[in-house]
Amino acid sequence: VQERKKLFIIFGGSGDLAQRKLYPALFQLFQHGYLKDHFAVIGTSRRSWPDEYYRGIIHDSLAAADVNVSADEEKSFASHFYYQSNDVTDAAHYVVLRKLAAKLDAQYGTDGNRIYYMAMAPRFFGTIANQIKSEHLLTDNGYNRLIIEKPFGRDYDSAKKLNDDISAAFNENQIYRIDHYLGKEMIQSLFALRFTNPILSAVWNKEYIDNIQITLAEDVGVGDRAGYYETAGSLRDMVQNHIMQIMSLVGMEPPVDFSAPSVTNAKERFFDSLRMYDHDQAMTNFVRGQYGAGKVAGQELKAYRDEENVSPTSNIETYVAGKIMIDNERWCGVPFYIRTGKRLTHKSTQINIVFKKSPIDIFQQPTTNNQFLEPNVLTINVEPNEGYTLQLNGKEVGQSFQTVDNTLDFAHSKKTIQDSPQAYERLILGALDGNMTSFTHWGELAQTWKFVDVIRQGWDAEQPAFPNYTPGTMGPDAAQELLQRDNRQWFYAP
Ligand code: BG6
Repeated sequence: VQERKKLFIIFGGSGDLAQRKLYPALFQLFQHGYLKDHFAVIGTSRRSWPDEYYRGIIHDSLAAADVNVSADEEKSFASHFYYQSNDVTDAAHYVVLRKLAAKLDAQYGTDGNRIYYMAMAPRFFGTIANQIKSEHLLTDNGYNRLIIEKPFGRDYDSAKKLNDDISAAFNENQIYRIDHYLGKEMIQSLFALRFTNPILSAVWNKEYIDNIQITLAEDVGVGDRAGYYETAGSLRDMVQNHIMQIMSLVGMEPPVDFSAPSVTNAKERFFDSLRMYDHDQAMTNFVRGQYGAGKVAGQELKAYRDEENVSPTSNIETYVAGKIMIDNERWCGVPFYIRTGKRLTHKSTQINIVFKKSPIDIFQQPTTNNQFLEPNVLTINVEPNEGYTLQLNGKEVGQSFQTVDNTLDFAHSKKTIQDSPQAYERLILGALDGNMTSFTHWGELAQTWKFVDVIRQGWDAEQPAFPNYTPGTMGPDAAQELLQRDNRQWFYAP
């Protein structure tokens, strides 16, 4: 492993994201040798903290993340962290930051490589990017890259404005927009699954696939994030980004190679084929839900409207299901059904590729569960299990010729998963190496926001009948009806 030399400047260094995700991920990179002697981190935020206090925060963050670390190792890691309080709107503060950065560059020999990490309220992203430029923080001798967290806007217009703002200071090839789902093992493995297996590539199209289902189910509620969630809802929080990104990897044409430009190009072409709904189509093809109160595993759970910092009349959705069509040669007529929600039965992220049934059934007898032949279904289990299952029809053992489900199952072992890098560790390493394959680009965001905006505007104009689902279930009835209407059903039905 070769050490990556650099200086990180983290805006929002005292925040929740930095503490929960970034510091543990940086530590993993340190433990694996990607960060060693020649790196430093400047954390900034409004509060004024001495370096020692900040290093205590690093300690707490590693302890909470339950990483395996000796006292010596932790001390050596934390010694690379410096803190600088910063009013992000005040130019004078960037001058102080510039001086500290120059000093640490020299002290640690970072070769002038810098990563600016935006992990704070998005309304400041544009200002920060501009001040970085105007106050000359950008170095001439190394690389300068910006990592930017979601939410990237709240609709097309605000995303465009944000993009214009940061683009005034950074080029597209310096901007790393994070979608942490793109750093997950099984999402990354979609490339290998799809593009190295001829028996799958041959059938990955409308001739053989009946429909595709993507489920991002969570059992948790909104937790302590209501302040943000009340302005977002599931559609902005999970659909515009994570779900649509997964869709593009499942549906895109084979990229010419595995370089970022080729992959981005393939994803953008996929989104170009997204059928843009008008208002009526959006209202027919998308349904929403909000959880009520209920009891799960003996525990009384509050309704969303009764959660802390949620308005008692909130119309924000905690559940979305929808049908999305891709109008291109490969997918025309094949619906992508997607759904996500909080307080559902279990945490489960999975992709089900539902194939067309055998056109002829020579047996003509109902199977054990009283169905004629079942379709083949390839499931990509993203979480909590990580692996694949393939549902095949087989013959029941014995004299009869009854068909039964013979599912092939492959799962990575717990140990393999535990030892493999977390999404953030992977993505940050990608940014250190200038590899943008697992980051999102403006063209993709523009299309997905335009698609989602029609639904959002439609919903905002109507009063929903909330709450409409009970915790511990798979969401509102309307989500079942969405598929029943097409004579289909959700494959994953716990
Ligand atoms: C985040 C959303 O992007 O993803 C959260 O803001 C959600 O609301 C989370 O809980 C789910 O991520 P994961 O990795 O736990 O599936």
